[in-house]
Amino acid sequence: TRYTVGYIVGSLATASINRTLAKALVRIAPPDLDFVEIPIKDLPLYSYDYDVDYPAEGRALKDAIAAVDAVLFVTPEYNRSIPGALKNAIDWASRPWGDNSFAHKPAAVIGASPGAIGTAVAQQNLRSVLSYCNSPQMNAPEAYIQFKPGLITDAGEVTDAGTARFLHNFMEEFRAFIVRVLTVLPRSAT
Ligand code: FNR
Repeated sequence: TRYTVGYIVGSLATASINRTLAKALVRIAPPDLDFVEIPIKDLPLYSYDYDVDYPAEGRALKDAIAAVDAVLFVTPEYNRSIPGALKNAIDWASRPWGDNSFAHKPAAVIGASPGAIGTAVAQQNLRSVLSYCNSPQMNAPEAYIQFKPGLITDAGEVTDAGTARFLHNFMEEFRAFIVRVLTVLPRSAT
């Protein structure tokens, strides 16, 4: 069985190291996972005023999440939390009330930072948000990637063998997690 993973990059920066990490994860993942990026950069700032009539950007986000088997969050840490753009996207997808796109949708979180903590605090914040949104999330392995120049090429090739093994294992574990969740919560039930 093939599974489709939608990945959301939490950074809007053109030279985002987390976008580079996402490229590496796509390359290194088990071959039976298909990937599609779920873009967040064109979303307006959410307000529940929109709930009566979701704009096209909000509907596109919800449709994109509905179309995938699981969501992979690849996010930087901004001021010890997730970037506002990512929180905004999650707020959009969680609404309108009663139509939460994350309910029963398997998720995993990973992130890269030049600092040694490797987005750990942002990931804890994100886990709280995803818990509230009723998204079953892979608890382990955790992945806090300290990004040093050259660790991943622009094409998404991991240059360090240990990191490559670690990231491959992370994606293998995510695949197994998706299978487990979809066994208990088939897509028709979500
Ligand atoms: C940062 N950075 C940062 N790094 C970190 O490890 N913890 C933090 O709390 C922060 N805070 C922070 C706030 C803001 C507004 C910016 C712009 C940056 C540094 C950050 O990890 C670095 O810029 C990365 O390159 C961000 O990832 P992307 O956006 O390149 O994927």
